[in-house]
Amino acid sequence: MHTHPSVQVGRRAAQPFSADNLPMQALPDTFCFLNGDYTALQDARISVLDRGFIFGDGIYEVIPVYGGRLFRFDEHIARLGRSLAEVQMANPHTAEEWRDIADNLIQRNPSTRESDHTVYLQVTRGVAPRDHAIPPGVKPTVFAMINPLKSQSATARAQGVACVTADDFRWKKGHIKSTSLLPAVLARQISVEAGATETILLRDGILSEASSSNVWVVKDGQLMGAPRDHLVLEGIRYGLLETLCRDAGIPFELRKISHAELLAADEVMLSSATKEVLAVTRLDGQPVGSGQPGPVYQKLYAAYQAAKAASEPTAKAPAPAAASVPIEGAESLIEYPSLFPIKVMGPKVEGFVETMAAIATEHDPSFEISRVQMRDSSGGKYLSVTLTVTATSREQLDNLYRALTAHPLAKYVL
Ligand code: PDD
Repeated sequence: MHTHPSVQVGRRAAQPFSADNLPMQALPDTFCFLNGDYTALQDARISVLDRGFIFGDGIYEVIPVYGGRLFRFDEHIARLGRSLAEVQMANPHTAEEWRDIADNLIQRNPSTRESDHTVYLQVTRGVAPRDHAIPPGVKPTVFAMINPLKSQSATARAQGVACVTADDFRWKKGHIKSTSLLPAVLARQISVEAGATETILLRDGILSEASSSNVWVVKDGQLMGAPRDHLVLEGIRYGLLETLCRDAGIPFELRKISHAELLAADEVMLSSATKEVLAVTRLDGQPVGSGQPGPVYQKLYAAYQAAKAASEPTAKAPAPAAASVPIEGAESLIEYPSLFPIKVMGPKVEGFVETMAAIATEHDPSFEISRVQMRDSSGGKYLSVTLTVTATSREQLDNLYRALTAHPLAKYVL
């Protein structure tokens, strides 16, 4: 069996870039390119909200540089273009611009004249609030650097090298809560484009989960979910729903669920830290069961709220006043479910309306773009957008209000 040796970090005298003096490897003293500027690699900074960091939402290339000359550059740039297109990112540069960047790096890094190197190019989807859905109108992060090309030893050349075999598990370890979420981003985008809240995924005709939530199917009063295996991220709500079902007398089973069973379900629901439990009432344009949140959902939702209310406050929990309701007085006035208009003011920029509508859809799966009304403000610089959502609970409205106010494009939410 192959085990992974633990990583040993060597002790070094100088630590050139380490704000908190953690032991780390010396970073190369080279020039890199970041978003239009050439800068020392050690000084290059990107936001922690960069989607490359948060989701692995990016594309890269590694191009050899022999004797200061780029090798097979056009082919690498063509593949970069294809990869970008596959993940729905616009190519931020023409082939000539990419060549200029690579040439500039070679010019500015004299070591490229002494030994072989590689040019590394990376494009990420840029910086945006964390949301799997692809954010509209965001500038990509463009980064390029140069690295020495470690040539193979004479022994390796003369004798060849050893390898081992393994199952090709790439993109098949769904049970790891990894930040390599590009497949999840692309999966979520399918639902965004269909005006839906989530994309429910099937592998070889068997239900696994959704792009960022688990999926539950109800048949004849029983709640069923996919088995705990490597194809599914076992949500923290797996255990919770099992307990809630037991307490509520709802039979609970984890087993393989076929596409046909999913389509024939009486109820379908999602669960996640952010969605709690959420009824799915339409699937691929067809109603699920009665087309309304069903009785098992209603029971589990109520049980979930009770579990929340019973959860221990942490030592640092905010005082109750801090969690006060943004929609003042709403509780006594609103009957649930009912249509509830929320007005959002924001800049008249591309994607503002779609972004606000996407947030509304997150909190109201029945929300449709036809329920958006728009008005220009007097100066023409701002838009006032009214989103009429189906309010199902005070909590849902609070969460929606918070999500809208938290978005940088939303200036006022009323
Ligand atoms: N997503 N499956 C996937 C692929 C998920 O990303 C998540 C959570 C879940 C549900 O896990 P839990 O019940 O522990 O939240 C299942 C989080 C909410 C996210 O990425 O935003």
